[in-house]
Amino acid sequence: MTTKLENPKSHVERGYDIVADQYLAWTSPRQTPVRTGLVTDLLKNLPAGADVLELGCGAGVPCTQVLVDHGLIATLIHGDMLTLDFAQASFDAVLAFYSIFHLPKEEQVLMIAKIKGWLKPGGWVLCNFQEDAGDMTYEGWFNFKPSITMFSSGLGVEGTRDLLNKQGFKLAVDEVMIDEVDIETVGQAEERFHWVMAQKGDVHD
Ligand SMILES: C[S@@+](CC[C@H](N)C(=O)[O-])C[C@H]1O[C@@H](n2cnc3c(N)ncnc32)[C@H](O)[C@@H]1O
Repeated sequence: MTTKLENPKSHVERGYDIVADQYLAWTSPRQTPVRTGLVTDLLKNLPAGADVLELGCGAGVPCTQVLVDHGLIATLIHGDMLTLDFAQASFDAVLAFYSIFHLPKEEQVLMIAKIKGWLKPGGWVLCNFQEDAGDMTYEGWFNFKPSITMFSSGLGVEGTRDLLNKQGFKLAVDEVMIDEVDIETVGQAEERFHWVMAQKGDVHD
């Protein structure tokens, strides 16, 4: 749906607060081999004791848990990812699963620029984006009770690719992939997202 929301991020924040327990019950058993496969691939590229930032970790399953199991120490920060402030070249990798697309597309442009700044030269970003360009409003999202309105947004595959290229990222993964999900548990057969794993160039800026 394309109903225009006045303050989309407030819907996202409020919505996840309201359905946090239900969302966790929904997502915990959800098989996402694309996501877990990419995290496993990324971890092979990172040095021991890597500094990793995960944006929008939710309850931390499965991915934050994978990072912790890998020996990384988690510090949780509550807030809008766009308002975070870190020193330049702080992280070996920035991860964001199903989260950046909750920012309005104009803010995604700013977010990618921030991520680039926070990454060390040669650092990696791994995240997924909405496949289609535009703003999406979902009333009664997943039939959670009470009913919530959810929002997502995107530049589309070409737009996201252009943005990352212009920011000097080298794209190692740049593909719309389909995650098969457990239809018995979550009542949905597949999820399509634009997955990106990209490396910051050597330029330190
Ligand atoms: C679909 S859930 C994904 C959670 C987790 N990354 C996963 O893979 O299961 C989206 C998460 O992004 C968070 N989120 C959405 N917009 C955000 C923002 N502007 N700043 C920080 N977190 C945000 C939500 O609170 C929620 O935890």
